Amino acid sequence: MRNICFVTGNQNKVIEVKKLIKNFKLISPKDLNFYDEIPETENTIKGNSFLKSSFIYNKFNIDCFSDDSGLFINALGGEPGVKSARYASEISDTEKNINLVLRNLRGEESRSAYFETCICLIIDGNISYFQGSVKGKITTKRVGSRGFGYDPIFIPKGYDKSFAQMSLEEKNQISHRSIATQKLVNFLNQK
Ligand code: IMP
Repeated sequence: MRNICFVTGNQNKVIEVKKLIKNFKLISPKDLNFYDEIPETENTIKGNSFLKSSFIYNKFNIDCFSDDSGLFINALGGEPGVKSARYASEISDTEKNINLVLRNLRGEESRSAYFETCICLIIDGNISYFQGSVKGKITTKRVGSRGFGYDPIFIPKGYDKSFAQMSLEEKNQISHRSIATQKLVNFLNQK
């Protein structure tokens, strides 16, 4: 079975995707003895996903993919977007990020937003992208205690509860990351 590397430092993501991929052996950068963080310096999530995949592809000559996600708020011109992890400070801090979003949206009636994920796959030097997104709106205060990141302030369209009030299974039915991952898995399982 061919190896394919999921370029991420997040082992939970690796475990989730491993369950879904049938005809490749999924490995992670640490299996290549690579522990560095690849700087995400592009100004789009697509650019950052390419940066991470192409870095590992060029260094190790191994098929690989990586993902990048963000929350895009229309009234804030798409912010925090590609900067979602480090919106409020250079060191990623979820509490500060949420506070800043709520502060920037104070008094704002138009609260539409979407999460988006882009996955960049490189196999035999061929590049493919898989995207997933979920529309919704930003609450005026935190609701729910599950999930991570901006989950407590995001209510997906068609629902009256936030991502942080959903079980992981429920969130996975509709989330940006699941949609993009499913497209990747369908593609790989046909290889
Ligand atoms: P990553 O590219 O998956 O690491 O996501 C970048 C940042 O976007 C995270 O640090 C979170 O702040 C935010 N984010 C991405 N996906 C989600 C999600 O499903 N829920 C809440 N926040 C998310």
